[in-house]
Amino acid sequence: MSENCYEVNMIQRIAVLTSGGDAPGMNAAIRSVVRCGVNKGWMTYGVRNGYQGLIDGLIEPMGTREVGGILQRGGTMLGSARCEDFKTFEGRERAIRNLNQKGVDALVVIGGNGSQTGSYELSKMGFPVVGIASTIDNDLFGSDITLGVDTALNIALEAIDRLKVTASSHQRAFIVEVMGRNCGYIALMSGLAGGAEAITVPERETDIEELAETLRLAYEHGKSHAIIVAAEGAKYNAAALTEYFKDNRERLGFSVRSTILGHVQRGGGPTAADRVLGSKLGLGAVEAIERGEFGVLVGTIDNHIVTTPFADVIGKSKPLDEELLKLAKILD
Ligand code: F6P
Repeated sequence: MSENCYEVNMIQRIAVLTSGGDAPGMNAAIRSVVRCGVNKGWMTYGVRNGYQGLIDGLIEPMGTREVGGILQRGGTMLGSARCEDFKTFEGRERAIRNLNQKGVDALVVIGGNGSQTGSYELSKMGFPVVGIASTIDNDLFGSDITLGVDTALNIALEAIDRLKVTASSHQRAFIVEVMGRNCGYIALMSGLAGGAEAITVPERETDIEELAETLRLAYEHGKSHAIIVAAEGAKYNAAALTEYFKDNRERLGFSVRSTILGHVQRGGGPTAADRVLGSKLGLGAVEAIERGEFGVLVGTIDNHIVTTPFADVIGKSKPLDEELLKLAKILD
């Protein structure tokens, strides 16, 4: 038995919550946790509004029927929150009291970095928790691809494709800012897939003079458009690039417009890939609980559903794919 397996008397009740930024596919994961749990003969509960609901005792039975018709819906049917109170010991104690009062034996937390830090804290206090890697940022160690990324990426890509059309009509350069917090994954992948002329990411320094020169040369060679995909967390995000180009407009040739995609990337129905991933991760979480394996994150590595102890996940960052970064530069 690994150090993350501990004896829990026979599992009878499990609860599931979604926390932090919503991500497309969360509903698929909720549905899977509930239906796979019911399939094991367990009672299943849903917690409203993330950790805040846990503190407020919003824990209600949620069975097979209640999770019907949600697979194709974006967001999370349970609601989500960023909860400051849960960062306190007292907040977590209250949460555990509420879970115990309902007789919940194990909790599944669907969320990203901040949420799984909460899961880790809860499990260190002795409560059996299993996390499901879910964030559009794809910045969670222990999962190559997190739930929601595929949809967010495709939304960003659609926007880039549309902006390229308008850019071409007007011989303009467009800055498209994408989300991702301190991770450049969405920027890199959508920039690569969208044929961007330049990509800025938080993980790498941007040589702004070189970037401007790339655009100028593109203009001189008769290109009718230029797309710069900027990660929100990059030093040169949309605001910084706009500021720079304002002062250097003549050098570029193109006139410049800027679009910040923001939360648009988090809404909308999940892609097939996110629905399937959510379903697989839900099963993975239920199977971990059945094995008595707690304090772990369920994610996907090399296309396999795997568990990684929270201790090996929290505080770590995933490196950006250098090869893809190089490729994007060659292709721009
Ligand atoms: O973590 C997901 C994310 O969408 C980030 O990309 C973004 O920086 C942040 O959440 C926005 O947070 P909020 O929805 O609380 O404004």
